[in-house]
Amino acid sequence: MQTFEMKTVIHFGSNSLDRLKTIPYQRILIITDPFVAQSEMIRLITEPLKSAGKEYDIFSDVVPDAPLDKIAAGVRKFLEYMPEAVVAVGGGSAMDSSKAIREFALKINPYGHVALIAIPTTSGTGSEVTSFAVINDTNAHIKYPLVSDSLTAEEAILDAELVRSVPPSVTADTGMDVFTHALESYVSTAHNEFSAALAEKAIEICGVFLLRAYLDGNDMHARQKMHVASCLAGLSFNTAGLGITHSMAHQLGAVFHIPHGRANAMLLPHIVEYNSGINKHSRSQTEYHPSVKRYANIAHVLGLSNYNKVMTVRSLVNWIQFMQKEMNIPLTIQELGTVTPDAYFAAIDRMADAALADTCTVNNPRVPTKEDIMNIYKKLWSF
Ligand SMILES: NC(=O)c1ccc[n+]([C@@H]2O[C@H](COP(=O)([O-])OP(=O)(O)OC[C@H]3O[C@@H](n4cnc5c(N)ncnc54)[C@H](O)[C@@H]3O)[C@@H](O)[C@H]2O)c1
Ligand SMILES: [Fe+2]
Repeated sequence: MQTFEMKTVIHFGSNSLDRLKTIPYQRILIITDPFVAQSEMIRLITEPLKSAGKEYDIFSDVVPDAPLDKIAAGVRKFLEYMPEAVVAVGGGSAMDSSKAIREFALKINPYGHVALIAIPTTSGTGSEVTSFAVINDTNAHIKYPLVSDSLTAEEAILDAELVRSVPPSVTADTGMDVFTHALESYVSTAHNEFSAALAEKAIEICGVFLLRAYLDGNDMHARQKMHVASCLAGLSFNTAGLGITHSMAHQLGAVFHIPHGRANAMLLPHIVEYNSGINKHSRSQTEYHPSVKRYANIAHVLGLSNYNKVMTVRSLVNWIQFMQKEMNIPLTIQELGTVTPDAYFAAIDRMADAALADTCTVNNPRVPTKEDIMNIYKKLWSF
């Protein structure tokens, strides 16, 4: 038996933040990052709460990639304030921190049901609708994806106005995170018709609107589309899971602080080649890996040519690399300029172990060995 469930109620489009006036909770803890807390954006959250006479407090100590010490500080704040609901405002880091804070605080003091309302300010992770929270053990240099239904937000609010200020480089990284979620969930071993439909729509939107949003952050039509695509891709991977692009990207984030979407974008062409068994030297084959058909479907959704299977998968890899170049995302770790070769090659063995143990590896369409993972990390250094 398979089950498809969407637990989160999604409010979207113009005036969707008005929902904050009618939520059935009085005492609200807003969890966000310092950038959002100091920007005009926070007023878009606090004004509707104020006008409805709600009490609120703000915890704004979130930093990228949800490190454990900040989660612990958030848990302390939560237990002091004892909110009826948490409103998470920010990118994946703020939403994942909020999920972990609520989860751990209620384990320490299970004083009642506390709702989570997730309001993304990047179009990337889809965390507003997923049962995942990626937390970061900064001492061990490992990012752990926690997975539990109890992490899922009760409500999500998608207002593209909150994304307007996202700078081009973050639009690029987070947009490629959306694309990676959709592609990995589409080829995952746990894919189903529901997840595939959601992924296909997310891919179609990325194909038409990601570059537009990158080139003009005030293109609100493109922003709105990408904000919805991010959520669709989140719903897709919430049921179908992801793959080794994410397992390997988590390690690049934990060890070298490479932004999550950027790490995915850089790895993705290599993973498509690895999973499909098709690279730039390939000739047509009598039999293909089952993922090839699915990658070809995605190439068609993007409107890429399809002379035969090999060329279709190549066109998908080329499209990903074209997007990287158009949006100034480096293709290699060397090109990033922030990591020395000694540090990188010394970390590969440990990163491969952690990537193999990552929960996202389970659903990859091809079962990797440690050597496979190490080879992909090595290839990523330079062309
Ligand atoms: N839970 C999930 O399902 C899931 C899925 C994928 C990734 N993740 C995790 O999410 C994290 C990444 O999240 P992210 O990519 O959204 O980045 P992020 O939350 O780390 O934010 C990136 C940067 O953008 C800034 N920012 C956020 N909103 C902004 C706005 N509106 N205008 C200007 N700047 C803004 C932030 O202050 C930050 O500096 C990673 O830790 C990743 O592992 C979680
Ligand atoms: Fe992701």
